Amino acid sequence: MRNTLVAGNWKLNGSKSSIAELLKGILVGMADDSVKPNTEVAVCAPYIYIPHVQEILDGTRIKFGSESISEHDSGAFTGEISGAMLSDFACEYAIVGHSERRTIFGEKDSDTANKFAAARKHGLKPILCVGELLEEREKEITEVVVARQLDAIIELEGVEALADGVIAYEPVWAIGTGMTASPQQAQDVHAFIRSKISALNKTVAEKVQILYGGSVNGANADELFAMPDIDGGLIGGAALKAEDFLAICRAGK
Ligand code: 13P
Repeated sequence: MRNTLVAGNWKLNGSKSSIAELLKGILVGMADDSVKPNTEVAVCAPYIYIPHVQEILDGTRIKFGSESISEHDSGAFTGEISGAMLSDFACEYAIVGHSERRTIFGEKDSDTANKFAAARKHGLKPILCVGELLEEREKEITEVVVARQLDAIIELEGVEALADGVIAYEPVWAIGTGMTASPQQAQDVHAFIRSKISALNKTVAEKVQILYGGSVNGANADELFAMPDIDGGLIGGAALKAEDFLAICRAGK
């Protein structure tokens, strides 16, 4: 049985004081054990706030990570943050291939694969985001797109590498729009991802957590997380308010 993982992706939001307030609110809310023991909780923060997050979360049940990572280890790459730097601040996770990185910042499948490799190399768990645009869903090529995004990792690192990370299926049309995929729509893609991996390695397919992301909130998390191949969520907007995030964390199987 896979643990549920609820991970927040704060994106370009927060300040020192709002982050302290948010995390303290989540910690207080978790103190009554209303979040099941087999639910893992994590937050992915803007780089500059990671030391602040580390200080607040040290010794607690909440893990943390970054929203991206450089594919490079060191050198003349102005503005980049490496896996070694993130490990230095006790990060556990690094999101790679978020659709905003792909569509706004032009990251290609190969860039995402290199970032996935960099995270693994430094002992971080990459949270690999995959998902189709609205027009790709309408053209009924969702599986083709998701398979291509997964293949970039499998070809570079081998299918076994997926066991070191987490996959997040985030249909782009559902992100920040309030248009959540229905539990069945999400389950269908999750099952496709797991069966694709299973064809190469059953053990990896059974082990890897596949999260759903895209307008998850306290009202729809229960139904989504109840699906057999949905192992939790990657949460944007609802991760910015303690009560909203806690409601999702409490929906764990
Ligand atoms: P929303 O939950 O705001 O739709 O964002 C999802 C997301 O992009 C998480 O990575």
